[in-house]
Amino acid sequence: MAQPIGIFDSGLGGLTVVRAIRRRLPAESVVYFGDTARVPYGIKSGETVARFAAEDCEFLCRYQPKFIVVACNTASATALPLLSRRFRQPMLGVIEPGARAVQAVWNGRPIGVIATEATISSGAYRRAILRRLPTAQVVEKACPLLVPLVEEGRDAADPIVRAVLAEYLKPLIEAKVGAVVLGCTHYPLLKDAIAAIMGRDVALVDSAETVAEEVAYCLTNYHLLETAGVGDSRFFVSDNPERFQTVGRRFLAEEIPSVERVTPEEFFGTPRRAPARVEEVL
Ligand code: DGL
Repeated sequence: MAQPIGIFDSGLGGLTVVRAIRRRLPAESVVYFGDTARVPYGIKSGETVARFAAEDCEFLCRYQPKFIVVACNTASATALPLLSRRFRQPMLGVIEPGARAVQAVWNGRPIGVIATEATISSGAYRRAILRRLPTAQVVEKACPLLVPLVEEGRDAADPIVRAVLAEYLKPLIEAKVGAVVLGCTHYPLLKDAIAAIMGRDVALVDSAETVAEEVAYCLTNYHLLETAGVGDSRFFVSDNPERFQTVGRRFLAEEIPSVERVTPEEFFGTPRRAPARVEEVL
C-alpha cells in the first residue's frame, strides 16, 4: 500500500468522509480507524476526547500516513490544535471546511449549526463561522438523540426521527435560518428529513465534500498527491467489527470487505495484563 491518508472517527460516522475522499481521490489509499469501543465522544469532556483522539492518531501512525483527517466533528472541535502540535503529519479537521462551505452559500440570514453537545459547547463552529462572516447570527443546537437514532438504523422516513428533529430544529426555524451546518458525522444520513422540515430555501451544509476538496488541495500543495492507479482501503475498529461492517455499509454507501479489530495492546502501545476478575476493572 502506498503511503495512505489516515482517517479517524469515534466510530463509523467518519465513513461519510471516507466516501467523499474516495470519490474525489480514487488513487489514494486510506487507513481508517473507528474507536467503536469508546463511542460516543459527543457527550464526553474535552479532556477525555482529546486523550482518545491522540491515541487514535497514535494508532494510525503505525501505517505511516502522509496526511491525517480528523473526520469526527467532536474531536475536531475539541482536540485539533493539540493534535497538530503533537503529530508531525499535516492534518485537517472538519470544522474549518464546514465554515468555508457555509460561507459559500451564505445569504445574509442567520446560520444554524446542529452537532453533538461537546461540539456545541466548544464553540468551535461559531468561532470558525464568525471569523469568516463577522456579522452573521449563529444559532446553535445540540442534538444528542440523533447519533443513537442513526446508529440504530432509523432513517429519514421514521416518525420518531421526524418528531425528534422537529423539536430540535424549532429554534432554527424560529430564527429563520438560511443555512444549517450538519456538524456531526451522522447527520448527512438524515439530510432528507432535515430538508423536509427546514424547507427548500434553507441550504444544508454537509462538510464531507468540502473536506475531500481540501484534502486534494493540501496534498497537491505538499506534492503528496497520488494520481495513478486505484487506492486501497483498510478499516480498523477498537470493538465489534461485525457491527461496523453491517451498519457502516449505509455510511460508506458500499460493502466493507473486511474490518480488523485492534486489541488493547496494539491500541495503547504498551501490553496490558488482561484483568483476572471483573472487580479489577471497576
Ligand atoms: N463522530 C461524532 C461527531 O461527528 C458523532 C458520534 C459521537 O458522538 O462520537 O461529532
